[in-house]
Amino acid sequence: MTRVPQRAPFITFEGGEGAGKTTQTRLLADRLAAIGIACVVTREPGGSPFAEEVRALLLSGHLPPRGPMAEALLFLAARVDHVAETIMPALEAGQWVISDRFADSTFAYQGAAGGVPRATLAGLHHLVLGDFRPDLTLILDLPPEIGLARAGARGQSAVDRFESRELAYHEALRQGFLAIAAEEPQRCAVIEASGSPEDVAARAWRIVEARLLSKVG
Ligand code: TYD
Repeated sequence: MTRVPQRAPFITFEGGEGAGKTTQTRLLADRLAAIGIACVVTREPGGSPFAEEVRALLLSGHLPPRGPMAEALLFLAARVDHVAETIMPALEAGQWVISDRFADSTFAYQGAAGGVPRATLAGLHHLVLGDFRPDLTLILDLPPEIGLARAGARGQSAVDRFESRELAYHEALRQGFLAIAAEEPQRCAVIEASGSPEDVAARAWRIVEARLLSKVG
């Protein structure tokens, strides 16, 4: 009989600009740490030295736009390295991993909003990562006007290339994330991201408890 290796849970946060993913990633890690579960916290694009280089290239604004397909391939190249160098070694060592964005961002940004067919992106993902996917994806949902206002208020020196697009793009993005959640309800949960960070964290925690902690005992 072949033994399927047990690995720790992999959680991702997804959502549009200003949805609060970075804060929620940290709050969830703190809450898990408080019950004795230390997590590896990571992010995309980035999360490994090579992927952080790709991140800098993608977000710098120095690259002339080459369209969503070229972007998708760069995000994917970074992701393969991130999984191999950071995510998988941790999961296999029994450590929980929480990532601020992962593959669903490519489906939403380059796919739903950018126009690359979903089947193409799914094929590319499968080619390089097989069936690897998060055990739980928390999608922070917010009307784009509110998210963009929040992102603007963060006072970033230069709004990055992906944030500076028009409202219709961000609305398509939101619908893209909601469609993913509707298609994979077992893996995904949509969390209403308005309200205080603590309120949103409490919503996220209820889902983590119900879907993951009840299973690990
Ligand atoms: P980041 O600073 O992480 O933005 P945020 O704070 O909104 O998470 O920058 C990541 C940007 O890259 C963000 O605008 C989303 C975009 N992105 C894609 O377009 N495709 C992807 O696959 C990923 C991972 C990110």
